[in-house]
Amino acid sequence: APSLPYKSVKIANVSQLSPNKPVTFNYPDASSPAILVKLGKPAIGGVGPQQDIVAFAGTCTHMGCPVQYQGERFVCRCHFSMFDPAKAGQTYQGLASSWLPQITLTVDKKGDIYATAVNGLIWGRVKNI
Ligand code: FES
Repeated sequence: APSLPYKSVKIANVSQLSPNKPVTFNYPDASSPAILVKLGKPAIGGVGPQQDIVAFAGTCTHMGCPVQYQGERFVCRCHFSMFDPAKAGQTYQGLASSWLPQITLTVDKKGDIYATAVNGLIWGRVKNI
């Protein structure tokens, strides 16, 4: 497989996370908000002991408004798009037609969680890194 030039960035440690308490960070660069969350149930692409820790771009794929984690889903308040964090960011309501880009995570032996890539195109970009 080709190696991607995404940087590996430490976000948090597994021990710091509580279910449904999101952690914000930026990835792959300072102008790209992102959200990490422990869902409390297994998720597609989930990492950690329960395979329930996921991260997504924090920018709605419709017109770029910020999304918020609320009620076990990501919601965009601009036009009420909703994205399922357990199903790889699938959009299921509202005007967005593209899924929310999922950020690939890895966990090391100490429980440190790293962002390592973005799976999908962040709104406003013409290409991935
Ligand atoms: Fe998010 Fe329109 S910008 S639904």
